[in-house]
Amino acid sequence: EKDGYDWFMRKEIFEQPRAVADALLGRHDGDGLLQLDEVRISEDELREVDKIVIIGCGTANYAGLVAKYAIEHWTRIPCEVELAHEFRYRDPILTRNTLVVAISQSGETADTLMAIRYARQQKARVLAVCNTNGSTIPRESDAVIYTHAGPEIGVASTKGFLTQLIACYLLGLYLAQVRGTKFGDEIAAVVDELAKMPDHVQCLLDSAEQVYELARTYAGTRSVLFLGRHAGFPVALEGALKLKELAYIHAEGFAAGELKHGPIALIEEGLPVFCVMPPRGRDQLHDKMVSAIQEIRARGARTLVLVEEGDEEVTRYADELIRLPVVPTLLQPVVATVPLQLFACELATAMGHDVDQPRNLAKSVTVE
Ligand code: F6R
Repeated sequence: EKDGYDWFMRKEIFEQPRAVADALLGRHDGDGLLQLDEVRISEDELREVDKIVIIGCGTANYAGLVAKYAIEHWTRIPCEVELAHEFRYRDPILTRNTLVVAISQSGETADTLMAIRYARQQKARVLAVCNTNGSTIPRESDAVIYTHAGPEIGVASTKGFLTQLIACYLLGLYLAQVRGTKFGDEIAAVVDELAKMPDHVQCLLDSAEQVYELARTYAGTRSVLFLGRHAGFPVALEGALKLKELAYIHAEGFAAGELKHGPIALIEEGLPVFCVMPPRGRDQLHDKMVSAIQEIRARGARTLVLVEEGDEEVTRYADELIRLPVVPTLLQPVVATVPLQLFACELATAMGHDVDQPRNLAKSVTVE
């Protein structure tokens, strides 16, 4: 059942080109961009939405953070992202015109389920982004987009995450289409870029060995930092979470701009720091990230830089380079996450840990 892989997690990482393709499949046709799987929300109601609140836990929350950048940019609807377990205890402002997007791979996470029950009591509309057909969260939601990743058995979410990103992009484009905030050809251009994602992910997997070799050299490390900006910031958080879960190493993700406000004090000789470079299209962000990398390198950190093909500006400040395919900024998380998954999986393996069943964790957390 593991198809020759040592772990379900590794198998699931390698299934991502297919999972991403399946998440896109049949969702784009002549009449409309998105096929929601079950909908009790009309297009009129979607046009009235004046706020989106995205809820989820762990990795699903990070998918939500990425979604915010894309959905706000494409739809101009204000979008908040909140941890499901924090959400209902703070008396959130919800109306009929609030769209709550609940992201959950399993569809059974109690924190997320309780949050959507609360949201529906407040008359908000709830749309689930879920991987598990017929699970509780989609059953209790007004609409669902299934992520079609196939069963995810490894406790750490991988293909679940990538397909959540795809579903959220599609949702954003669909809302932009229904509300007329983007022209059809602009939407089609993004869909074209999405359609290239399975091949891009496959290319990264084809060079997995480079990341594996790197990972094995870090088996004794006590701490790893991850830096990103814009849509690369949630990627940093996700990279750090994978490492905590699987390798039991202290790992933290930061928005690179936050460094000088405190975290730079952590930088010391030899500390490994993953840096997710924004694509060159985002000039200001790109330049700022280059200077952040210079700064931490000057203080002795080991910089492991994820950077798009052809971007040479940062090469001399990088101790290690991991090349990414050239993609639009908003879609970069789909590719940038993959090497970080491979790194965590291989490092944990090298340290002799059970990658599929990390200590203290359960695949679905059905208690609050
Ligand atoms: C991380 C991980 C967890 C889950 C979280 C939510 O690798 O697996 O952080 O993402 O428990 O689970 P779902 O998506 O099933 O609601």
